[in-house]
Amino acid sequence: MNKITVRVKPAYDVIIGKGIIKNAGMLISKATGSRRFIVVTNRKVFALHGRELIKSLTGLKHTVHFIKDGEEYKNLSTLDGIYKACVKAGLDRSSCIIAFGGGVTGDTAGFAAATYMRGIKYAQVPTTLLSQVDSSVGGKTGIDAAYGKNMIGAFYQPSIVLADTDTLKTLNKSEFNNGMAEVIKHGIIADKKYFDYIIGNEKRIKSMDDYSLEYIVAGSVRIKSRIVAADEKEITGLRALLNFGHTAGHAIETAMHYKGIKHGEAVAVGSVIAAKISAKAGFCDESTVRVINEAYNLFNLIKPLKKVKKALILSLLFNDKKVKDGKIRFVLTKGIGSAKLIDNVDLSLIKREILNFL
Ligand SMILES: NC(=O)c1ccc[n+]([C@@H]2O[C@H](COP(=O)([O-])OP(=O)(O)OC[C@H]3O[C@@H](n4cnc5c(N)ncnc54)[C@H](O)[C@@H]3O)[C@@H](O)[C@H]2O)c1
Ligand SMILES: [Zn+2]
Repeated sequence: MNKITVRVKPAYDVIIGKGIIKNAGMLISKATGSRRFIVVTNRKVFALHGRELIKSLTGLKHTVHFIKDGEEYKNLSTLDGIYKACVKAGLDRSSCIIAFGGGVTGDTAGFAAATYMRGIKYAQVPTTLLSQVDSSVGGKTGIDAAYGKNMIGAFYQPSIVLADTDTLKTLNKSEFNNGMAEVIKHGIIADKKYFDYIIGNEKRIKSMDDYSLEYIVAGSVRIKSRIVAADEKEITGLRALLNFGHTAGHAIETAMHYKGIKHGEAVAVGSVIAAKISAKAGFCDESTVRVINEAYNLFNLIKPLKKVKKALILSLLFNDKKVKDGKIRFVLTKGIGSAKLIDNVDLSLIKREILNFL
């Protein structure tokens, strides 16, 4: 078991380990002091892992509210459904929402907690690799809207995060690899030893052995929580390092209307493009680009992007709010384990590398 404290105000713990859902009720009630709980989840996750969680809540007043499964349900209507369920369950300001599922559940239930009665407590019990290593830590909550993804939201930290690595064993390969994209990204931006572990233990990780699952989740949470604690609301530029690979990645996802590409695959391609730009701009050498490409390839994340509209990707980048006088803010790598937010990267350089890649 690993316990990592996220040092924001107030600080909270992320507990990572095999089978810790069994103790969820006790750990969450201790961290929140709440007496009434609502579990927000979807039917798929609940069928796979719900029994253990509910058993742990024995003796505590709780109800379960189901939301539909899928990014398309990370919306206002789902949020409204959660509020109504909170009212029906008699939740007051001292009650607690338990977000049990992947990033969609965590973001939506977290935002419900941030806004119901101007904010009640919430706990994250993430069940996908992406949500364990990324979305459950750091307090970004929110929903999508017709006018943009994650357009409505709040910074609102949970009281506790419980990442049970056993839940990851029911993920399909492609969902697992999707989370690996952020794991690899964390290594690239902050920790060469962690990155080398991933490359050196590819088979163990893929076989989901207990030690390596806990190692990668704890390693990522350690990196992300350190960055979040130093720049909780993305003001100084430090938290922006977590966006490595995401500027080009987001443009690709948007141009493809989020169809036929997973977030992790877009981040993988975006990271290789960012690495190439870093090499061209003299921040790292070509061997870094090769190693990054290989790492993503190990987890099957670099796919040929057929049918992608190059012109649309470029226009999305040019219209990015970070562009000023033909320059853009972009996260570059200075070699594995180190990254820097650069204010004035030439857009033409980015354009060239994207066209080369596609
Ligand atoms: N808040 C943040 O900082 C942050 C960071 C990154 C991503 N996100 C958000 O996270 C979301 C993506 O999260 P995700 O990738 O977890 O997607 P998701 O929540 O849609 O989960 C993916 C699929 O896996 C299923 N699932 C969940 N746990 C499972 C398990 N243990 N076994 C089998 N299947 C399981 C889900 O029901 C779903 O069908 C996006 O909305 C994204 O915007 C937020
Ligand atoms: Zn991401």
